[in-house]
Amino acid sequence: MADAERLTLALVGYGYWGPNLLRNFMEFSECRVKYVCDRSPIQLEKAALKYPHLLLTQSFDEVTDDDEVDAVVIATPISTHHALAKKALLRGKHVFVEKPLAADSASAEELVGLAEMQNLILMVGHTFKYNPPVIKIKELIDTGELGDIYYISSSRVNLGLHQPDVSVIWDLAPHDLSMLFYWLNEEPLQVHAFGRGCLRPDKPDVVFINLAFESGAVAELQLSWLSPVKLRRTVIVGSKKMLIYDDTESVEKVKLFDHGVNLVEQGSFGAMADINYFVEPSSFGEFQLSYRCGDIISPHLDNYEPLQALAKHLVECILDGRRPKTDGLDGLRVVRALERAESSLMCNGNFVENERWRTRLSG
Ligand SMILES: NC(=O)c1ccc[n+]([C@@H]2O[C@H](COP(=O)([O-])OP(=O)(O)OC[C@H]3O[C@@H](n4cnc5c(N)ncnc54)[C@H](O)[C@@H]3O)[C@@H](O)[C@H]2O)c1
Repeated sequence: MADAERLTLALVGYGYWGPNLLRNFMEFSECRVKYVCDRSPIQLEKAALKYPHLLLTQSFDEVTDDDEVDAVVIATPISTHHALAKKALLRGKHVFVEKPLAADSASAEELVGLAEMQNLILMVGHTFKYNPPVIKIKELIDTGELGDIYYISSSRVNLGLHQPDVSVIWDLAPHDLSMLFYWLNEEPLQVHAFGRGCLRPDKPDVVFINLAFESGAVAELQLSWLSPVKLRRTVIVGSKKMLIYDDTESVEKVKLFDHGVNLVEQGSFGAMADINYFVEPSSFGEFQLSYRCGDIISPHLDNYEPLQALAKHLVECILDGRRPKTDGLDGLRVVRALERAESSLMCNGNFVENERWRTRLSG
């Protein structure tokens, strides 16, 4: 560390998301940002207008060759994550990589191994794990308030930016998968996906993913860049309570419903000789359903920007030598599930649909 008290950082990738990260890192006295690196001169010009005192460079080597730089924050397209992160780790830099950690699990595993070997921090931008409503939901699940989780259903759809290099799975699903694994504390046994490329035959832009977990919980994720409205909505149904998390709401993002249905046995006692015995209900009809529609409450949520919490966490983890909440392994789990979803998608008839499109377009 060049400065005894402060970390020196470099931001790599000043496109859509990079400026949000930079803004947050600029706020901490525990670190100073020295470089903005982007291969596009146009993007660098934009950075220069806002932050004239920062060094601007198109060369990633310049950043990694600078001994003053302690950590790099990577916000470039997914296909570049592995190469950039690997080079930075090999040059002894701590690394933050935007989600998803890498474009395949072998690359993600390599980064995790490298960080361990070099004793460096590798943190992934699973932003939602720093989001107060998501943390509150984790608390509600862990304290048993919801009971056993039956299912989770989420919609992440809008008229979104079609990414040139990846399907909607790699762009949007990292958010939901990282939340699911955080809440349920387990990886899925099964991952199935179905969808289609509506605009471009080879790049699915509408995908539905189904997951099954060992605990019995099942989940579905609806992901799309083609929707008339923006939905960021998750429904979680447990054996005791249910909740709705709507991230587009400005207040009351989480609503907890004391609603549920219980099976009440209607069995009867029979008698045989002098033995009394309980007659189990022999069919579903012999159970009575008891519906409960109790209070709906909106739990208090802390009020802070998730990205600020994430940036602070990175700085603290590096300074204190702590393992981040969203470390490389967390990133790897998500990449594994993305990979499974993508390969399921390619076997599920979606490919046939694409072939039909291709024939139509070429014919
Ligand atoms: N956490 C979130 O909520 C969130 C939201 C949006 C995007 N992201 C992630 O942020 C990352 C970037 O997404 P984006 O939408 O900002 O992309 P973008 O295409 O808008 O910006 C990427 C920038 O990186 C630059 N770049 C590309 N290759 C480079 C290289 N080798 N060296 C230096 N610069 C390079 C490009 O010139 C561009 O300016 C992605 O991983 C994406 O998944 C995260």
